[in-house]
Amino acid sequence: MQNALKTAEIISSALPYIQKFRDKIFVIKYGGSAQLDEELKQKFIRDISLLHIVGIKIVLIHGGGKKINSYLDRLDIKSEFINGLRFTSKEAMEVVEMVLSGNINKEITALLNQNGTRAVGISGKDANLLKATPLDSGKYGFVGEITDVNAKLILDLLDDSFVPVIAPIAVDDELNSYNINADLCASKVATALNAERVIFLTDTKGILNKQGELISKLNKTKIDELKNDETISGGMIPKVDAAAWCCQNGVKSAHIIDGRLPHSLLLEFFTDDGIGTMIKF
Ligand SMILES: Nc1ncnc2c1ncn2[C@@H]1O[C@H](COP(=O)(O)OP(=O)(O)OP(=O)(O)O)[C@@H](O)[C@H]1O
Ligand SMILES: [Mg+2]
Repeated sequence: MQNALKTAEIISSALPYIQKFRDKIFVIKYGGSAQLDEELKQKFIRDISLLHIVGIKIVLIHGGGKKINSYLDRLDIKSEFINGLRFTSKEAMEVVEMVLSGNINKEITALLNQNGTRAVGISGKDANLLKATPLDSGKYGFVGEITDVNAKLILDLLDDSFVPVIAPIAVDDELNSYNINADLCASKVATALNAERVIFLTDTKGILNKQGELISKLNKTKIDELKNDETISGGMIPKVDAAAWCCQNGVKSAHIIDGRLPHSLLLEFFTDDGIGTMIKF
């Protein structure tokens, strides 16, 4: 009985958050690094289903860095990272698209549907969802910079109670495919949708300082400092850039949270303090 009462109290404590967030748009970036553990993945899918069923509008963008690496290795295709972005040759681009759009996107979408959540898996090629040009004049090969987001497609899907699951692949007028860093993709989608918040699930507690301790709040000045002294490096660079872009373009806050923690999304949504690092300007 005690346990049942406690469960009832916990469920009841979620009510004010559900009331606050109902019908609001939340963009969630599901990092490739957070997708590796099958049990955690199942919990993540259930949490998305729960958020969806209480009326929160969820848009999922996924990465897939680790899986892409393993396929590129198997095919003996070299890829290197510059400023946290993968230089993407034409050959590598084919693999990136197959893994993101063909494999990971469909797996997440199918798992959501299996859980009773209406989900549609799309990439930037569907209804011209994401148009792009080469980033920095092609310095990174087929890495693109998003120039246009078809927000109407996503809004229509949300209005029809679907969870859009987006693979970060974009297209140009010549039908070239572009590899878009999933964090930057999430930020462009979030601002195009006027989302309430953007949440990045990754494989660290959040942004860590030089001593390896969690920094729970960050503003623009502090981000610049941490980038300049290289406390923030590798894959965390596009993530903070994405978070900063969101905050400068109407999204209320961006959160970097630990995808290795079971139910991290519920802790983020249904507690006052949340978890991880909050970026707010
Ligand atoms: N200051 C920092 N605090 C925390 N992590 C950092 C920091 N600087 C660099 N990192 C690195 O950033 C990594 C997270 O970015 P990464 O691109 O690897 O994962 P992801 O974005 O979640 O996955 P994917 O790119 O596949 O979507 C961490 O695992 C860590 O190694
Ligand atoms: Mg990354």
